[in-house]
Amino acid sequence: MSEKMAFKGRWVLVTGASAGLGEAMARQLAQQGAHLILVARRLERLQSLQAELQQKHGVQCRVIAADLARPDDVERVFLEGIQQPVYGVILNAGVTHFGWHRDLEWTAFENLLATNLTSVVRLVTLFVPYLIEQRQHGGILLVSSMAGLFPVPYQSAYAGTKAFVAQFGQSLYQELRGQPVSITTFCPGGIATEMTTGSKLDYFSDTPLLQSAEDCARDALRAFAQRKYLPVPGLLNRLQVFGARLLPRKWLGMIAERAYRKALQ
Ligand SMILES: NC(=O)c1ccc[n+]([C@@H]2O[C@H](COP(=O)([O-])OP(=O)(O)OC[C@H]3O[C@@H](n4cnc5c(N)ncnc54)[C@H](OP(=O)(O)O)[C@@H]3O)[C@@H](O)[C@H]2O)c1
Repeated sequence: MSEKMAFKGRWVLVTGASAGLGEAMARQLAQQGAHLILVARRLERLQSLQAELQQKHGVQCRVIAADLARPDDVERVFLEGIQQPVYGVILNAGVTHFGWHRDLEWTAFENLLATNLTSVVRLVTLFVPYLIEQRQHGGILLVSSMAGLFPVPYQSAYAGTKAFVAQFGQSLYQELRGQPVSITTFCPGGIATEMTTGSKLDYFSDTPLLQSAEDCARDALRAFAQRKYLPVPGLLNRLQVFGARLLPRKWLGMIAERAYRKALQ
């Protein structure tokens, strides 16, 4: 579909809107005049963002407190979400584990899988037919990661979930060509958010490798509006993706292992 997306006056659902990239995207969408459905677990944060955006930008905001690791909550997000005529869906909520894979508790692994992967597949499965039927020419933005494009030792499970999302999104993009809905799979590198700050991943904050949440959100929304296929934000990140094509994948894993091992120490 070649027609660009326009968010003004349209309803956009954003998961993981209580912090980081999701919150930054919600703020920028409100600035563009979009009405919002804000989803996350921390209700108070969502309510304070709702009050701020309604007051500042005169847009309508709904909040849905939901734990996307719980299948019932995922179904409820869809059913409550479509009380409004949804035009855009941003599946951004995600969690990581940084450390040895052997140290990841099984319950934490199940939570990571359910949040980053199962909830995304379920919501896409529900929203694609809905958006096609709506015929508003809307779209879905899947937030994957550069970690889904390369091997990432010490974030093995996380990288696996993001690789799944990247493959799923790219495959669906082709299946849905010619339909009145688009799928964009966004692959950021490091972003300065709660996920990195205060954790051992903060090690990278002294390098030019972390993008601000605001810059990343701007790149994400531009790519979403343009219905891009597999956008990577930031010149440095794009250079890494390009350079990586020239190296054997095993070497990429070795280089990443060295960098992340230093961060872990
Ligand atoms: N930060 C990075 O370096 C980086 C790099 C590449 C890709 N990404 C991806 O970008 C996305 C956003 O990450 P971020 O850096 O903005 O992380 P963040 O600051 O930690 O925010 C994560 C968001 O997801 C929500 N969330 C987490 N678990 C949830 C659950 N079970 N149910 C509902 N909501 C849940 C959190 O809200 P509650 O806690 O209130 O539920 C929060 O709003 C993620 O998919 C992440 O994998 C991040």
